[in-house]
Amino acid sequence: MAKKLLRVLSGEPLWPPPAWLMRQAGRYLPEYRELRARAGSFLGLCTNPDLAMEVTLQPIRRFGFDAAILFSDILLLPWALGQGLDYVEGRGPVLPPLATPADLARLDPARAAAKLGPVLETVHRVRGALEEETLIGFAGAPFTVACYMVEGGGSRTWEKVRAMAWSQPALFGALIDLLVDQTIAWLAAQIEAGAEAVMLFDSWAGILAPDLFRAHVIEPTARIVAALRARYPEVPIIGFPRKSGLLMLEYVSRTGVQGVGMDTSIDAALAARKIAPKVALQGNLDPQLLVEGGPRMAHAVARLLSEVRGHPFIFNLGHGVVPETPVENITALLAQVRAEEARAAG
Ligand code: CP3
Repeated sequence: MAKKLLRVLSGEPLWPPPAWLMRQAGRYLPEYRELRARAGSFLGLCTNPDLAMEVTLQPIRRFGFDAAILFSDILLLPWALGQGLDYVEGRGPVLPPLATPADLARLDPARAAAKLGPVLETVHRVRGALEEETLIGFAGAPFTVACYMVEGGGSRTWEKVRAMAWSQPALFGALIDLLVDQTIAWLAAQIEAGAEAVMLFDSWAGILAPDLFRAHVIEPTARIVAALRARYPEVPIIGFPRKSGLLMLEYVSRTGVQGVGMDTSIDAALAARKIAPKVALQGNLDPQLLVEGGPRMAHAVARLLSEVRGHPFIFNLGHGVVPETPVENITALLAQVRAEEARAAG
């Protein structure tokens, strides 16, 4: 019998639904904080297979999620291509901004594979340690990775990246093209190493006007999905075009993804009505409700479940677990999801 997450991603409305959480490994877990302190740097943690395997498995052991997501980061790809990267305490990732054709030409795909080797070793080892759980590999989608590369880190307004997309279309298009090719190679390598499903995080998709969304979110994602599905037809792909609103519908119909992550703002009942019955929905509890816990969380969970029942669905949040989350709220959340009455698969 196939693993639960894979059954849902092949279109089966399994109930109770399988569950995992974005950022299920991270600072809210005391065992993560302990190991993170020992590793020294976040990059050091991501590129040490012993430690990265341990943090990948920590939330599985503690809570029994139905999927493990590789412990890594979307910015490891630009780092491997030779753009500098540092994670600064209290500020997040910092990179030397990419602004000119010469900056783009300096990126070196030939060296990426060797630098990412330790991460593939982690994938291989984690897969060997899992039984029932599905191993999810991932990458940032080209547009979101380009956001950090062009801005030189996170931004509140993302003005530089939108300016480049409008006024330097050749340079921005060439950056997206390079990221499409490298993302295909990076995800293919994760699949070869043992990833059973892959997810594309497009956290900033929602900042784009529709024409740019089609050009830099839908079209590159469709190319990645087509290339991977041709080589690995059995490996499902989950897209996460965060904050894309109504454009999420076009994203689902035109990219060919098997699952779509709903951000916190999506009305799950509407998504369940509008999205092709064979595409799985994933999401979308507000991570802040997981901090709150108690009856307000329970009420929202019950409502979400009632809205997507009958549809292939994977329980998750609308964005990542935040560091303030009490661990006992996650235990309660999973107990509630699993207490749903089972029903025969369709
Ligand atoms: O979900 C998981 O448990 C797997 C690991 C994972 C991380 N980052 C670990 C991480 C995944 C899937 C990501 C994806 C990621 N990384 C995204 C897309 C999802 C999203 O959150 O929108 C983005 C935009 C990034 C870039 C990034 N990495 C930022 C902005 C930051 C700093 C801010 C923050 O949230 O801490 C990171 C660092 C990071 N990536 C941490 C972790 C556990 C924290 C590092 C630490 O321990 O200090």
